[in-house]
Amino acid sequence: MTSDLAIPTAAQAAAIDRRDEAEALDQRCALAFTRARFRLPDKLIYLDGNSLGALPMAAPDRLAGVIGGEWGTDLIQSWNTAGWIDAPARVGAAIAPLVGVGADEVTVADSVSVNLFKLLAACLHLRPGRRVILTEPGNFPTDLYVAQGLAALVPGVEVRAVPADGLASVLGPEVAVLMLTHVHYKWASIHDMAGLTAAAHAAGALTLWDLSHSAGAVEVDLAAAGADFAVGCGYKYLNGGPGAPAFLFAARRHHERIAQPLSGWMGHAAPFDFVDEYAPAPGMGRFLCGTPPILSLSALEAGLATFAGIAMADVAAKSRALSALLQARMAARAPQLALASPADPAARGSHLVFRHPDAFAICQASIARGVVGDFRAPDLWRLGLTPLYTRYVDVWDAAEVAGDIIARGAWRDPAFARRAAVT
Ligand SMILES: Cc1ncc(COP(=O)(O)O)c(C=O)c1O
Repeated sequence: MTSDLAIPTAAQAAAIDRRDEAEALDQRCALAFTRARFRLPDKLIYLDGNSLGALPMAAPDRLAGVIGGEWGTDLIQSWNTAGWIDAPARVGAAIAPLVGVGADEVTVADSVSVNLFKLLAACLHLRPGRRVILTEPGNFPTDLYVAQGLAALVPGVEVRAVPADGLASVLGPEVAVLMLTHVHYKWASIHDMAGLTAAAHAAGALTLWDLSHSAGAVEVDLAAAGADFAVGCGYKYLNGGPGAPAFLFAARRHHERIAQPLSGWMGHAAPFDFVDEYAPAPGMGRFLCGTPPILSLSALEAGLATFAGIAMADVAAKSRALSALLQARMAARAPQLALASPADPAARGSHLVFRHPDAFAICQASIARGVVGDFRAPDLWRLGLTPLYTRYVDVWDAAEVAGDIIARGAWRDPAFARRAAVT
């Protein structure tokens, strides 16, 4: 790297109006080198890393080693000799700097959904007498569903969903926990984590943040915000592969008082004592439930290695530049697509969403032309910008394809109306 490499500002990226200028941005970008850490199909413009991160170059060999050597040869000894038993804590420690907390405050287990259940229950336990889980309507469905499931299980507990601008006024003595998704999965809008956490604390409530669209994409400083708890996906910006296990964070000040109801043997203080009575492991260990998924954890560890030597401030800066460029190019080439994300790049995460009555068909027609985004019902086309591997020229080309598809009505082909199970 030479010293004239830098991350373009959002304004610089948005100002370009020729493809070769996009190529020049890639040449000058201080984060361009990280694309080589991924295996991406030739000619594919992959704008869906916010759903499933790309394959890290090192992951196939890592998995082959775990399967062939650790599982195939060393078999059960690998729980000790290959450090399998420590994998949840070790991989959690690799996530910690990406979200601004200590290595001992994060572990990896289960899915986001399951971890939400554990942490919401822990919050109710920490705030006896308070019976409200406060959230917002339109939060990611699993967050709402899990809260509803817990409320159905615990007599007196209620889920209250209040639009974001009314949250502060609803925070009161009944609220046990404020549960929000930091970067919204549809709009990409970002909540003020520090402000809302302070408001929750002033009312005596705890906070639980879903970082699924934040971790690895934008700067997150849970410690500075004073956040209590968080969860997040391993398979999006952390590049852990399909169905990668999720992470959970609990602030150290809560560790020894937290009780969670999925008290499986792997969260026991001494699992290999095989005693009848549950006793929680110290610290984050108590959030484990069953046997850790070692193949998936190994893939996630390879995914996290793609962040080696990179500052999240640079990742976030590139995210803003990419999304400013996409916003500008779509406005120029496909003005029929209405931006449904915040207009200010600093006010959004690392994806952009556009509204169009035929968004599904446009999404499918674009995939057929090698531009992969996704569709969110009823009328949103969502395009993810992954700073570690998305290039400025990809963004330029994606907008050209979108403009062409819309101008020619190519999306009207009935083939693009057929829906599969996953959109
Ligand atoms: C904000 C948010 N939370 C949770 C999830 C899914 O969590 P899980 O790991 O339980 O499938 C997603 C998936 O897209 C998400 O966007």
